[in-house]
Amino acid sequence: MSRKALIAANWKMYKTPAEALAFVDAFLPLIAGHTRDEIALFPSVTSLATVVKAVEGSGVIAGLQNMHFAEDGAYTGETSAAMLKAVGATHTLIGHSERRQYFNETDEIVNKKLHTALKHGIVPVVCIGELLHEREAGHTAQVLLTQLKGALAGISAAAAHTLVIAYEPVWAIGTGKTATPEMAVEAHMIIRAELANILGSHVAKATRILYGGSVKPENATALLGEEEIDGALVGGASLKPDSFAAIVHY
Ligand code: PGA
Repeated sequence: MSRKALIAANWKMYKTPAEALAFVDAFLPLIAGHTRDEIALFPSVTSLATVVKAVEGSGVIAGLQNMHFAEDGAYTGETSAAMLKAVGATHTLIGHSERRQYFNETDEIVNKKLHTALKHGIVPVVCIGELLHEREAGHTAQVLLTQLKGALAGISAAAAHTLVIAYEPVWAIGTGKTATPEMAVEAHMIIRAELANILGSHVAKATRILYGGSVKPENATALLGEEEIDGALVGGASLKPDSFAAIVHY
């Protein structure tokens, strides 16, 4: 089964609406007619509506970097699924390692967010990955299985058909250190095998597993050329239109 790759930009806490708009204006001509892969932009919440409008008709996807699990309520500073959809966004990141590290997001919270996203028809990109000391201790597989099981608790195969997983080794994020294609493939195979255990082999074969962690134009071809790597989640190298376009054209 062939999986269409998803190349996604995670802009983190960068870009005002004007800067986001300038990016899209410069970026769209660079990827015009590119149909091999899906392309997604994950701007900050204040730029989301601007980006949704700016990419209209281009095929480029817009999504949020984080979403709350509750329908609504007294959750100061948070954004709901309905708010995301109301501005025309379709995707959300869930459980990025920076959310886990700085905002205490646990597997249980990730699981609740995943339930909410799927219920609302929002495409979830669930991020998992090991810390450096976990890799060095030989615990990578165990960490990935724990995160995956936690994220997917109570999720049915039927509900999970849009699920996207991003494998992001935490030691490779924003550090310039990239997992080798072999390391990424090994992790992706562990993830896909566990997806088969939890959701069945049909879903496991269809689910896209992205790699993230210091992806840049120089290493995109080696990583994305691997059959097991179904796209990339790109931080730093997605902030400039030419650099992100070069990754899209790997
Ligand atoms: P990076 O970030 O490409 O800057 O390493 C990736 C991510 O955090 O998704």
